[in-house]
Amino acid sequence: CGIVGYVGKSQAAPILLDGLSKLEYRGYDSAGMAVYDGSKIEYEKAKGRLKLLSEKTHDGATMQGTIGIGHTRWATHGEPSETNAHPHLNEEETIAVVHNGIIENYAKLKEKLIKRGYTFKSETDTEVVAHLLDYYYKQGNDPLTSVTKVMHRVEGAYALGIIFADFPDEIYSVRKDSPLIVGLGKDGNLIASDVPAVLKYTREVYFIENEEIAKLTENSIEFYDVDGQPIEKQSKTIDWDVDAAEKGGYDHFMIKEIHEEPKTVRDTLNPRIKNDKVDIEELGMTDEEIKAISRIRIVACGSAYHTGVTAKYVFEEMARIPVEVDIASEFRYRNPILQDNELVIAVSQSGETADTKEAVRMARAMGNMTLAIVNVVGSSIAREAEKVMYTWAGPEISVATTKAYSAQLIAFYLLAMKFAEVRGLLGEDEMKSLIQDLKKLPEQIEMLLGNKERIQKFANRFVAAKDVFFIGRGIDYAISLEGSLKLKEISYIHSEAYAAGELKHGTISLIEDNTLVAAVATQDNVYAKTVSNIVECKTRGAFILAVTTIGNEDIEKVADYVMYIPQTNRYFTNSLAIIPLQLFGYYVSVGKGFDVDHPRNLAKSVTVE
Ligand code: G6P
Repeated sequence: CGIVGYVGKSQAAPILLDGLSKLEYRGYDSAGMAVYDGSKIEYEKAKGRLKLLSEKTHDGATMQGTIGIGHTRWATHGEPSETNAHPHLNEEETIAVVHNGIIENYAKLKEKLIKRGYTFKSETDTEVVAHLLDYYYKQGNDPLTSVTKVMHRVEGAYALGIIFADFPDEIYSVRKDSPLIVGLGKDGNLIASDVPAVLKYTREVYFIENEEIAKLTENSIEFYDVDGQPIEKQSKTIDWDVDAAEKGGYDHFMIKEIHEEPKTVRDTLNPRIKNDKVDIEELGMTDEEIKAISRIRIVACGSAYHTGVTAKYVFEEMARIPVEVDIASEFRYRNPILQDNELVIAVSQSGETADTKEAVRMARAMGNMTLAIVNVVGSSIAREAEKVMYTWAGPEISVATTKAYSAQLIAFYLLAMKFAEVRGLLGEDEMKSLIQDLKKLPEQIEMLLGNKERIQKFANRFVAAKDVFFIGRGIDYAISLEGSLKLKEISYIHSEAYAAGELKHGTISLIEDNTLVAAVATQDNVYAKTVSNIVECKTRGAFILAVTTIGNEDIEKVADYVMYIPQTNRYFTNSLAIIPLQLFGYYVSVGKGFDVDHPRNLAKSVTVE
C-alpha cells in the first residue's frame, strides 16, 4: 500500500491525489482520502484504480481543507471494497488513519476492543488502530502520547498517517518495518511511503527510522521516539528524477521486480512453514479430502500455465497424484471430463483472467473442488474458487511477469509436499530436508542476481538473433517454456521451447549456423539425454547456451556458454534456473531499446476472451 499526507497553505486533496498517483505501483485495488474541512473530518473512498477516486472528487476539488491523508491499497486483510479502503476512522469520525503494513495481533486487539464496546465496520487490521487511538485519546492522553501507547500495543509492520479533528493543524506519522518519509515543502509539509510522491513539491526529505514519530504542521516538523521524547534528524536532498524514484532506482519495473524475487519467495514460503512442517491450514482441506484426490487439473494462461507444467512433474513424482495441465481457453471450450474427486487448481497473478475465471466456474458447476493460487486478494478468481492460496508477491507492474511466477512455484511446491505427506509418501526427514532447501532459495536467488552483468554481456551478443530455441526435459522443459516466453514477449525475437527429445521430429531442421539454442539441464535423471540433444544441435551449427547446476562443469565440453545455478533439490531447480533466463530476456529487450515494461500488443491482465 501507499500512504501520503499534506498539511500547508494549499488545498490538500489535489496534492494527495497527485502523490497517490506516484504510489500506484504499491497498490491499486482501492483508494481513499480524509481531509479536515474546517469543522470536521471529511472522507471519500473508491474501490478500483485511483482514477475513480479522482473522478468521484473532481480531482480533489470537492474536498475542502488544507490538511489531509490519503491511501492507495493492496489488500491483505479483507477484500478490496469501499468499506475496507482507507482511511479508517473512530466511531465519532474525529480520528482518521491510513496504514501501510500488517498488524499481526489485530485479531486479539479487535476482540478486546469489541468487549469495550467498539464496533467495527471493516475486515481490516487497520481499523483496530483507529479505535485504539480513540481509546487512549479518550483516557485523556494528548495525540502524541496516544500514538506512542498504540505503538506499544500493536505488533507487526506499519507506517501510519493520522489526523485528529481536535488538532486540525497536525499530522502524526509513525513507522515500523514499513517505509515512510517526510518531505519539507515550501508551502507545507508532507508524509509519504516513498520519495516519488513528494518530488513535485520538495527534494528535502527526512527518512523516518523504525519506531520514530513525526509530527507535522504547516511550518514545523518535529520528531519523537517511541517514548515521546524529542529527537533530532537531518534531512537529505534527493537528486533522482521522479521516474527513477518510482522504480526504486531501477531502469524498469521488470528488473525491480526480478530483484524482489528473494523477498517474494520468502513471503510466500515463511508463513506456511511451522515446526519443520508445511502448514496450509488456511485452505481448510482435511486429510481425508487430500487422500481422496483422484487427479489434479491445473488451469491457467501464460506464465501461470507454465508454473502448472512444472507442478505436474512435481506432484506426480512427489505425491503420486496424476496431473493434467490445461490452457484455460482450451479447457473451457472442449466439454472437458472431470473425474469425481478431481481437484481443479487455477493459477493467476491478477485473478482476473477471463478464461481462467470461466474454467473455475465450470469446474465448480461440475461439482469439483476448486483451489485458486492467486496474487490479488479478493480478485474475481479468488472469489470464484472454493479455496484460495495467496502468493504474496505484492503488486506486479511489468507486463512480463517475474516475481508472481516465482511465488506461484513456491505455492505449488508447498501443496505437493503437503499432499505427499498426508498420503504417506514423504517421511519426516525428507520433509525437513526439502524445507531446508526451500529456505535456501532466497539467498541462492540473490547470488544469481549478483551475476547479472555477465548475463547482460551475453545478452548483448544476441540482440540481432532471429530465432532462438529453448530445450529441456522434465522440469527443465517447463523452465524452457517460461524462458522462451520471457525472451519473445519483450524482445520480439521468435523463440520456441521444445521437449529436448522431440527436437529431432521436425524442429531441428530449423537450426542453422549460430542459431542460439538454450539448453536447460538441471535434472540428473535426464542429464545425459539432454547433453546428447545439445550435441545434435551443435553439430548442425547451433550456438549452445547451457543452464545447469554447479557440479556439471563437464557440460562446457559441448556448450559454448554456461550459466550455473546453485545446487538445490531437483524439484526446485525451476526457481533458480528461471532467474538467468528472466535476466536474459530483460537484457536482450534493453539492448534493443524496447519498452520493456509495456511490450507491444500485450496486456498485464487479459479480462476478455
Ligand atoms: C497475460 C500476462 C502474462 C500472464 C497471463 C496470465 O498474458 O501478460 O504475464 O502470465 O496474462 O495472467 P494471470 O493474471 O492470470 O496470471
